[in-house]
Amino acid sequence: MLNNKVAKILIRAKNDPVFFAEHFFKNVKMENYKLEDHQKLFLRDKNPYKILFCSRRSGKTLVMILDILHKAFFRPNQQIALIAPTLEQSKTFANVFNDMILRSEGLRSSFIVDNKLDKQLSNGTRIAFKTAGAASGKKEDSNLVGSGINTLYIDEAQSMDADAMATIMPVVTGQIGQAEIVLAGTPRARTGFFFENILNAKQISECYVNKGIPKRCPTDGKYSLHRFKVTDLDEDDKVIYSKAEYRLSIEELETIKSTIGVEKFRREYCLEFLDSISMPFYSDLIDLAFTAPLPQTFSSFQPACAGIDFGKKRNISSLTIATQTPQLTWEAKYYKRWHLGTKYTDILHYVNNVLPKAFPGLKCIAIDQTGVGNVLTEGVNHNSFYNVLDVIFSQPSKVSMVEGLVSSMENQFITFAPDKLLQKEMAQYSRETTENDRVIYTKGESDDCLDSAMLCNVAINDYIQNGQRRRNPLKMFSLGQNALGNKSYDNTKSRNRYTKKRKRR
Ligand SMILES: Nc1ncnc2c1ncn2[C@@H]1O[C@H](COP(=O)(O)OP(=O)(O)OP(=O)(O)O)[C@@H](O)[C@H]1O
Ligand SMILES: [Mg+2]
Repeated sequence: MLNNKVAKILIRAKNDPVFFAEHFFKNVKMENYKLEDHQKLFLRDKNPYKILFCSRRSGKTLVMILDILHKAFFRPNQQIALIAPTLEQSKTFANVFNDMILRSEGLRSSFIVDNKLDKQLSNGTRIAFKTAGAASGKKEDSNLVGSGINTLYIDEAQSMDADAMATIMPVVTGQIGQAEIVLAGTPRARTGFFFENILNAKQISECYVNKGIPKRCPTDGKYSLHRFKVTDLDEDDKVIYSKAEYRLSIEELETIKSTIGVEKFRREYCLEFLDSISMPFYSDLIDLAFTAPLPQTFSSFQPACAGIDFGKKRNISSLTIATQTPQLTWEAKYYKRWHLGTKYTDILHYVNNVLPKAFPGLKCIAIDQTGVGNVLTEGVNHNSFYNVLDVIFSQPSKVSMVEGLVSSMENQFITFAPDKLLQKEMAQYSRETTENDRVIYTKGESDDCLDSAMLCNVAINDYIQNGQRRRNPLKMFSLGQNALGNKSYDNTKSRNRYTKKRKRR
């Protein structure tokens, strides 16, 4: 009799993930979870490809964990993976997962392997928490390569770069049976894998629209989109409502808004993608500017200018080199990056010895001196045939550097060869104006490549304004120069001077 009752509960739990979630799991107060409408809709959606496009704090992580657990318990021999952009994020996800299992007495014994980031159930199903190494941009960071996965969850999908996605996607193909993919995230820029799949969703479900009945879309996309906007702002930027009032009150949302600023709040809580006002490198600009051809070799005899950003503790070092075209515009098409932990002496050797040989027309190189100290920048040869500018990033100089590069790109005075990391950094870069009208910029996961591109533009402008003068080792970058410079500048004089000097040697 009892067995019969248990069997009925299990069958119901198998058929209805919402029943499973609400009867088998407890919240931190040790009460059964009561799911919100949007969470129920998501769990009951049987589409193999789903997107959770929801505000911050809307319960994405929780509902993904419940979805993972439902699949893990009722489907034997599955390979399930959760991937987050950084190791820290996948550990946080695993912690929430582990806490939920700990609170669920009955289910704990089903785990025969129970490591923090790697689990196996007695039915043979494995669950792994991984990172794609997106922040570093290194494909080899992905510990997914070679592991067949048939159910894949990607949290914070808006922060996954294209390279990481290119590594991840093949691991879910070629499996027996249909692969399943769930992406979860908030808005970011209007570019990239996550944005494209939202734009081309095959259907959209919103629990508060048409009783949650999905709206079919004319596009032939793959994903079933679950949209949940927890709040909205009125004309005076006041929070109007909360769709999860019992745990996220209007007062709390107001406090969050005053902490993170209206722009970011609109993005993170009101599901608004950044528009051109708050994105200095808006998507049309990126399309316009990334049109330079990729070079055949990493060298050129053309006049060249470069910018280098030395990586501090948690950043890579990045070098961008642009060469002048016969039309006197500039093409930034040479990029060199050094991974975290590269010895500074190796980078200095490259800058002082390899770079000038590969680019004998080098006119000027701008170096970011902020935070790395004189010892390092003094290691750059300031006594060569090209100028060396030591740039210290300050708030006003940053404004002039960002806006200078934007205007150079808008006028196609500088174009870039395609580069995923740089394009991503530009797309994720946002501009905010504080209450006292200070402009501040917020980077996405990184801005090392963008910094070196901005420095390269600084070097170009310095060369155009001042020509190839003798360098001054103590010179600091001065503000207020016109980023566009003078396009009709004739550079033959400086090239001749350089040639003469080489002959004398
Ligand atoms: N139905 C629910 N019942 C009780 N608590 C919930 C429910 N849904 C979400 N929560 C709680 O709300 C908080 C936010 O949920 P969660 O972390 O899953 O949201 P998120 O959308 O992933 O947030 P973030 O965008 O910050 O990653 C958590 O403490 C979670 O336990
Ligand atoms: Mg989350």
